[in-house]
Amino acid sequence: MTPTAAAVDKRQKMFEAALRRHGRDRHALIEVLHTAQELYGYLSPQILRQVCRELDLPPSKVYGVATFYHFFSLTPKGEHSCTVCLGTACFVKRAADLVAAVEQAFQVKAGGVTKDGRLSLSVARCVGSCGLAPVAIVDDVTVSKAEPNTLVQMLQSLTTAERVST
Ligand code: FES
Repeated sequence: MTPTAAAVDKRQKMFEAALRRHGRDRHALIEVLHTAQELYGYLSPQILRQVCRELDLPPSKVYGVATFYHFFSLTPKGEHSCTVCLGTACFVKRAADLVAAVEQAFQVKAGGVTKDGRLSLSVARCVGSCGLAPVAIVDDVTVSKAEPNTLVQMLQSLTTAERVST
């Protein structure tokens, strides 16, 4: 869904208020990036340029921080997310098959978003539930001992159920 001009303006005002709250202090870079991501869903080049200007920091510093921490995203996220763990325990339990199944069913590559913006697919290195391997995280739900077909079905019902009701 594309945000309306009013929503964009409101987010911009909230972002500027957050910058003022931090006193445009360059040491508040991570907090400022967090706020921007919460408001916009990801860190666009436009936002990163604004952060450079407002905090008087070089692009190398701002981009370096934004790309170092995995919780920052430089691309828009889907409405739903599926993260497949490819840590050692999950990998030996064929977690790569989960990735392949989702990639094929949704025509999306790991690290990307489906064309309709409904689903983001990403991979992670050990999410701390090795005893439940292979593990996928769908939105905030941990799917333990995941199987390719069941994971795909779960994602299909999640992404199509809302389509019918909206
Ligand atoms: S390796 Fe997947 S949860 Fe630890």
